Amino acid sequence: MSRREDRRGHRKALRERLSAEEVAELGLELKAGDDHYRAFVGPPATYDILGGLQFELLFDLGLREYHRVLDIGCGSVRLGRLLIPFLLPGRYYGIEPNRNLVIEGLKHHFGGGESGEVVRAKRPVFAPNADFDFSFVGEPIDFIMAQSIASHTGVAETKQLFRSIASACHAGTIAVVTYCRCRTLAEQNTRDGWFYPKRVHYADEFLAGLADSVGLLAYRSCWPLANDRGGGTLVSWQTPLILTKSAWQPPAAQLRAGASAPVRGSRPGRERCPADGNEPVLLNGRPAVDDVPGK
Ligand SMILES: C[S@@+](CC[C@H](N)C(=O)[O-])C[C@H]1O[C@@H](n2cnc3c(N)ncnc32)[C@H](O)[C@@H]1O
Repeated sequence: MSRREDRRGHRKALRERLSAEEVAELGLELKAGDDHYRAFVGPPATYDILGGLQFELLFDLGLREYHRVLDIGCGSVRLGRLLIPFLLPGRYYGIEPNRNLVIEGLKHHFGGGESGEVVRAKRPVFAPNADFDFSFVGEPIDFIMAQSIASHTGVAETKQLFRSIASACHAGTIAVVTYCRCRTLAEQNTRDGWFYPKRVHYADEFLAGLADSVGLLAYRSCWPLANDRGGGTLVSWQTPLILTKSAWQPPAAQLRAGASAPVRGSRPGRERCPADGNEPVLLNGRPAVDDVPGK
């Protein structure tokens, strides 16, 4: 099944269950990148699944309610919709240059925008900067999610993203950066800038080098099993990269998800992950295995 057929299937399933008003409200007839709080951040028909996958991935990686989480490019608070109620107050930090997206997201997910009841109780903190300046956080961050950010950042911006992530990490922080994977350096993006809704591809070797240059270990990882919708199709074709300061031991949930992701395909950006084996793969360095981040 092609990606387009799969999306059509998702839309059809939703239309069968939703009213015409709901279809319009959820932007289901719109394309990824269109001006709508859901469509802007990706295909509207899988908005919910991709929010759930991000949450599940963090949960599989050891997320607890007392952790502090930074959501880079949080868009319309798709992950925050699940994270903000889960985390103890004041522990969700979202950075997003498009402030309207955040406000729309808060309004639709929680009611009342920035002054809604959930927001007042849970006190999420948002910053509108576009420089990957995480100084607004002011506290040690335990988990970082950059979902579908490095799939749009040019070379200079990706370097800045990695530098900023490294500066926000403590010894136990787990950062997840999703990327569109290509096999070779020759295939990857070479330009600077922000490419959107177009995507850019990077090779493991390049990202491993970037991680090295800022003192991070890089592990090519995989989404939870729910990413696989059967029939050879995935919700996200991006690969999650895990960045840590200390050696990381994949938890059982990650190993099981990896073991179920068969190797397939060689087109850039359509690699299953992990593409060359059953377990998360350390892409750089040879650290001692004693510190386990995420505890
Ligand atoms: C593909 S969307 C992903 C949104 C969100 N992570 C999600 O999964 O729903 C990319 C987001 O990155 C935001 N963005 C663009 N430039 C950025 C920058 N320099 N720093 C942080 N976010 C940025 C966009 O406004 C957009 O909301």
